Amino acid sequence: MATNEDHFKNVISHSKEYGFIFQSSEIYDGLSAVYDYAQNGVELKKNIRDYWWKSMVQMHENIVGLDAAIFMHPTTWKASGHVDAFNDPLIDNKDSKKRYRADVLIEEHMAKIEAKIDKEVEKAAKRFGETFDEKMFRQTNPRVLEHIHKIEEIETRFRKALEENNLGEVRQIIVDCEIVCPVSGSRNWTEVRQFNLMFSTAMGSVSEDSSVIYLRPETAQGIFVNFLNVQKSGRMKIPFGIAQTGKAFRNEIVARQFIFRMREFEQMEMQFFVRPGTEMEWYAYWKEARLKWHKALGTPDKKYRFHDHIKLAHYANAACDIEFEFPFGFKELEGIHSRTDFDLKQHEQFSGKKLQYFDPELNQSYVPYVVETSIGLDRMFLALLSNAYTEEKLPGTINATTGKEEDNSRVVLNLPPFLAPIKVAVFPLMAKDGLPEKAKEIFDLLRFDHMCVMEEKDNIGKRYRRQDAIGTPFCITVDPQSLEDNTVTIRYRDTMLQERVAVAQLKAIVEEKVSMRKVLEKL
Ligand code: GAP
Repeated sequence: MATNEDHFKNVISHSKEYGFIFQSSEIYDGLSAVYDYAQNGVELKKNIRDYWWKSMVQMHENIVGLDAAIFMHPTTWKASGHVDAFNDPLIDNKDSKKRYRADVLIEEHMAKIEAKIDKEVEKAAKRFGETFDEKMFRQTNPRVLEHIHKIEEIETRFRKALEENNLGEVRQIIVDCEIVCPVSGSRNWTEVRQFNLMFSTAMGSVSEDSSVIYLRPETAQGIFVNFLNVQKSGRMKIPFGIAQTGKAFRNEIVARQFIFRMREFEQMEMQFFVRPGTEMEWYAYWKEARLKWHKALGTPDKKYRFHDHIKLAHYANAACDIEFEFPFGFKELEGIHSRTDFDLKQHEQFSGKKLQYFDPELNQSYVPYVVETSIGLDRMFLALLSNAYTEEKLPGTINATTGKEEDNSRVVLNLPPFLAPIKVAVFPLMAKDGLPEKAKEIFDLLRFDHMCVMEEKDNIGKRYRRQDAIGTPFCITVDPQSLEDNTVTIRYRDTMLQERVAVAQLKAIVEEKVSMRKVLEKL
């Protein structure tokens, strides 16, 4: 069986081989942590974006869209706090020369202790069988209690150190927890330093006239500065939301794990403006709504979990992540943050303009509070791809010459059909006798509603395998009988079953399976 590491390596090489993702500027040996989406990747990415957009904007009468520019007035980033506080605490191992985020080292250490607790529980559950009382065991078992105490101790120290920006203490926690560098295995650490993650460039043709501007590190600020424009022009009533998808840029130092942490990536963010004092209700609402959005895709529930932030960002009074079990473990996929009135108040102060809402029910003006949902489109892509990538062993075929059974397997992407890059592949059985023309007729029938391809090369088995590998839910084969009775063979990706159907039925069969509507109805 493939290990998680093998699985991840296979997903990466599959992405390249089948036209999902290429390294940026590969002919120049690539640019670190920057990637290009290829012909199939771009379709999958667009479909994920559409699913998010439809569920957020089309399905909520009180959420509207926005597409703000990447470049913003530089004062935006002073006001938002990013110039002063958008930092990562970094630490280097002197032996391996590898750089790490200090907070991540500590959080991973706590996760390891957590895993020890789970192991104890698992062992005890096996030992006691049906009589096992997990709650009681967690509350009373001395080893479990010792682990819990350890986690609490580290957490309290860590929280305090971060709140006080005490980098010396952060380093001391790493030393005291005896955390070692995963590469060198040593504890030879440098001091912890802060590093700002924003990219900057110059606007203006002559250097004396130019001013430093930043590439936005989050799309959210484009929404905040447009809050009143949208509210007034759209006559929006609180509570209401503004949704946006677009590129964001961060000079990530520890950029590894393929498209998980990139320097140029895409976010899908929604800022929900609410009456002050109601933000915790909306925070709970959006936590649940967003988890539902993920689960509606049919991925097993156990692949998701919530993780509450220990260190709250400078703007938040509550925050959590929806974590997904990637091949390299549970990691953040989406953030849900209660951002208070921090951003709007800061923009009021720095711009000198009022950013207030007149609430007719209260007969009073106020700066709204904000609950945001923020998901990385690339990370969602990776979650789906790594979950969908499946190596399947199939019943062996008998070799006609040797009479022996031969290994048979396929790689299939079990993507939710409505997200698959290509919905239908149409194959003429042979490239002659009018079959390509008939296949083209079917292709033309379906292409207005769905992404379709036509393929004539290779034998049918190979063509099936190629479509399985990119997740195409349907293959349709046109053979000589099709010319006589207007029927074709349709083959289903997941079951590999084939059946003969009338061409007149095709639209309905395909539509039933690839429609987004059924998924949206679950939300
Ligand atoms: N506006 C809030 C915000 O930007 P965040 O937690 O820093 O919050 C939100 O980012 C989401 O953006 C993350 O959950 C992740 O999915 C994605 N993201 C952040 N940094 C990323 C990176 N370097 N590469 C890919 N995705 C990233």
